[in-house]
Amino acid sequence: MQVLRTHTCGELGRLHIGKEATLCGWVDSYRDHGGGLFIDLRDRYGMTQVVFNPPDTPPAIIEESKSLRAEYVVQVIGRVAERPSGMANPKLSTGEIELRVTGFKLLNKSQTPPVSPNANAQDLPNEELRLEHRYLDLRRAVMQKTLMLRDRIVKGMRDYFAELDFIDVETPILGRSTPEGARDYLVPSRISRGAFYALPQSPQLYKQILMMAGYDRYVQVARCFRDEDLRADRQPEFTQLDLEMSFVDADDVMGVIDGLVAKLAKQELGLDVKLPLPRMTYDEAMERFGHDAPDLRFGLELVDCTDLAAKSDFRVFSSVAASGGRVRAINAKLGTEHYSRRGIDALTEYVAAFGAKGLAWFRVEEDGSLSSTIAKNFTPELLKEFGIRLKAEPGDLLLFVADEWKVTCKALHALRSKIGAEMKLYDPRAMHFSWVVEFPMFDFDDEEKRWVAMHHPFTSPRDQDFDLLKGDPGKCRAKAYDLVINGSEAGGGTIRIHDPGIQQTVFSLLGIDEHTAEQRFGFLLRALGYGAPPHGGIALGIDRWVMLFAGLDNIRDCIAFPKTQRASDLMTGAPGEVESKQLKELGIRIER
Ligand code: AMO
Ligand code: AMP
Repeated sequence: MQVLRTHTCGELGRLHIGKEATLCGWVDSYRDHGGGLFIDLRDRYGMTQVVFNPPDTPPAIIEESKSLRAEYVVQVIGRVAERPSGMANPKLSTGEIELRVTGFKLLNKSQTPPVSPNANAQDLPNEELRLEHRYLDLRRAVMQKTLMLRDRIVKGMRDYFAELDFIDVETPILGRSTPEGARDYLVPSRISRGAFYALPQSPQLYKQILMMAGYDRYVQVARCFRDEDLRADRQPEFTQLDLEMSFVDADDVMGVIDGLVAKLAKQELGLDVKLPLPRMTYDEAMERFGHDAPDLRFGLELVDCTDLAAKSDFRVFSSVAASGGRVRAINAKLGTEHYSRRGIDALTEYVAAFGAKGLAWFRVEEDGSLSSTIAKNFTPELLKEFGIRLKAEPGDLLLFVADEWKVTCKALHALRSKIGAEMKLYDPRAMHFSWVVEFPMFDFDDEEKRWVAMHHPFTSPRDQDFDLLKGDPGKCRAKAYDLVINGSEAGGGTIRIHDPGIQQTVFSLLGIDEHTAEQRFGFLLRALGYGAPPHGGIALGIDRWVMLFAGLDNIRDCIAFPKTQRASDLMTGAPGEVESKQLKELGIRIER
């Protein structure tokens, strides 16, 4: 049998000069030099310059080569030769050699590709076209680089956990709804008409059951499905590195992940990450950054000025302070150079989208005084106090939002992120890893007027907070921890409840009555009654890890076959209609 190729397109070098080689690949580009043709032959391993030229190449092959076009698939046989002096390309691993063709076979033709695999970023067509022709888009070097990074990250994770005695156990895709807070994807059952499976939002309950079954140290690369509103860092179908451990507390779980972070940061980024990773409580994160996954690559912290605001004659400030709201600010250092009056108007418009009713501002003048259209509402002494509180220096721009606490958090977090990026306050290639811990157990849903679980209903309160469950649930803090990379939630987990009584209490606090609890989680409550060990775990968002490690800002570029913001796959056309026979079997009628 004749081999199709002896080497890959990324393999030949100085060492092979004088040898014969057979390569297969795609025509990345071609240049006709009159006498002969040069092509760059590409596969996923690299690119090799291939030359069709007399006297090595027989005239018939030179003639044939003239019909070659981009993305044709060819086999070439030839001799490896050193490139003529001055023609070497140090950017390519194969840059010192070329293959001088003696034999040739066209393996396949290509139509003119609508997405050119060798296009520069700025020449790329729109994302819809790229997703529709994903087979072409995936040929691009950056896409291949990202998917290979993804492969190394996942392999690095698997190896790491295998060394620590974790065992990989698969859990069902067709299961019962587990509440992670998003809408379920449902699958109708043919055999049990009218009943539905839910695709897992995560393997949460299965991994807890595994602990109760004695499988300490479970790990799985798990596909999760959530029918939620999509953003740049969210997909309806995504992958978690999911794990669970028995007889552990939060420190044990975070310690294991710390080691993984250090390993992968070294392996992929050459970084020596100092362990343990820094930790911050949720309360501190919200106070200093207005967000539970703060980007710690830069400062620009939120500063509370409610007490000073209460003393002013500026009604916006004093009324908010009097009604229990908060007046908080950030000091954009030397921001007056960056933001003109028009610039400030744009920021005001920006924060409005996050609920802020306005954006009060002061410029710090050369003499240190504060100037603004609203300055007349403040005594010079009070302005001085604001300046001291915000460490104001000439050229600084002070920006204030007065509102209820939640709104100040949202608006100032958004403002901080925007200004941080616009004023280039950090190196976009820098990486920062940290933990946010001790999240509240519950969040009050203002619309539904009830408590909802901040993480999920199986999360344990801190030991010292058990009494608060009945007394003051809003103050109850959880044994919860989120891993934050560059302002992105890259993982989240908790220590779980292993006491059936406490689990019942939490369910009832969440408005899940006994009947509903039995119906939905009866199996969990029963399992808790048969000797459940203390346990806890975490899930890491693999797609987000890849995005952050690759320095990308779009999660779709980290997934081979992602879905659009409308949750559809433009290549296959999913979701698609099905035949009426299929619907009949399921007993489903579609209302239009
Ligand atoms: P959580 O819901 O926090 O926890 O998810 C864990 C991590 O998964 C990633 N992630 C996503 N990535 C892409 N697209 C999405 N739609 C998406 N949603 C979440 C995030 C997140 O930190 N069962 C619990 C874990 C546990 O308690 O052990 C869970 O799923 O990086
Ligand atoms: P006004 O008195 O509404 O014209 O607002 C005067 C200034 O205060 C403008 O710069 C507004 O953007 C700002 N402002 C109004 N409401 C708020 C608020 N809730 N928080 C911060 N600034 C505000």
